[in-house]
Amino acid sequence: MADTGNKKQKLVHTSGAPIYMETSSAPTNIATIKYWGKADAKWNTPINDSVSVTLNQDDLKAVTTVAASTAFENDRLWLNGEEEEGAADNKRFRACVDGVRALATEKKDDDGKVLVTKEDWSKMKIHVSSYNTFPTAAGLASSAAGYAALVAALALLFGAKEEFPGQLTSIARQGSGSACRSLSGGFVAWRKGGKKEDWSDSLAEQVADENHWPEIRAVIMVVSDAKKDTSSTAGMSTSVETSLLLKHRADTVVSQRMEAIEKAFLAKDFETFGQLTMADSNQFHATCLDTYPPIFYMNDVSKSIIRIIHVYNKWAGKIQAAYTFDAGPNAVIFTLEEHAVEVGALMLHYYPEFGDKYVNNPDFEKKIKDFKLDKDLLEATDKTGREPKSGEVKMMYYTSSGPGPQRLTDTILNLDPTTGLNTYKK
Ligand code: DP6
Repeated sequence: MADTGNKKQKLVHTSGAPIYMETSSAPTNIATIKYWGKADAKWNTPINDSVSVTLNQDDLKAVTTVAASTAFENDRLWLNGEEEEGAADNKRFRACVDGVRALATEKKDDDGKVLVTKEDWSKMKIHVSSYNTFPTAAGLASSAAGYAALVAALALLFGAKEEFPGQLTSIARQGSGSACRSLSGGFVAWRKGGKKEDWSDSLAEQVADENHWPEIRAVIMVVSDAKKDTSSTAGMSTSVETSLLLKHRADTVVSQRMEAIEKAFLAKDFETFGQLTMADSNQFHATCLDTYPPIFYMNDVSKSIIRIIHVYNKWAGKIQAAYTFDAGPNAVIFTLEEHAVEVGALMLHYYPEFGDKYVNNPDFEKKIKDFKLDKDLLEATDKTGREPKSGEVKMMYYTSSGPGPQRLTDTILNLDPTTGLNTYKK
């Protein structure tokens, strides 16, 4: 993990007991080959490999402060400033805290004096405060960023030492599957594993870092949706039980796609990368439709975006933009820097501004507003039947690929240094 320098500070609880504290941020990620379906619910392992692009934390991230002290009475968790009652008993939370604590090492001061032994850590209770810099309800993989930030902060706090490479990702996976891919930057694969009985080989591995293909961009359309979605966990379980297409996908399709997309990413071949990304998103949503009863994550707005992107690529004569949709109606459109303004302008044309701060990045907003879209392109995209209409997309994000978790200098960011209580306010 990148270390931006840790301010030296001794924190002491009002009772006199020391408080140990660390803060880490972590990115969200968007899969281009999707994880859908669990092989083993207890270990939270997948039926197929998956791979994702880590997004830039300048635009979207989770920031998590963790503290340990003998002065704390219970494990406690605050999310976006609100305490989650009973969260400390939650299976996913426990797997992360106990999993990282099992890898703890002793903590020494500058003179080499032992402050906390490995055993001492288990006598302390843990406080956690985490917030997202993007709306949790926007459905932008907030659990991936959240659990990755939790594991990264705990690893710092306990001085965790992995017994094998990727062990921390196997712990984050038990928080939320997709979280294991948020512990690295760039392009990250989750190998399904399964050769080991305890599934310790189900872990994430970086395919290429964020500097390998720096021109990759994502335009995210946060599509309004009043309905409550089927959660990923519940949806996956019904799909595994009922969808023959999902079985076929996991048995034969994904392994070929994984190989091809990793090769394409390494070769910076956007055509292949984009084609596979769109095909895999479509197949994932087809498995949802093949689930009985069916699950619908995309809505008509999502589908209109798909149509426009295909017409855009046809007009360009090559794949310049590639959509992908997770378990919700939001579109993530991958493109390259050279086409990002055009793609953004096209989206803004059909899904015009709605409310304040519609676009997260003011510079990009100005560029897409000023951009003159080609007449022939608009004539072709108009034929999809979409007419410019605001209100159906809540927000647009423009972002790039970025690094994995970062240690933050301000270790007392979300928790009070003398009480260990939450200080973060929304
Ligand atoms: C459609 O990682 O949220 O985004 O392991 O049950 O927490 P749990 O599921 P989660 O599922 C993500 C599904 C997806 C595809 C993906 O990210 O690969």
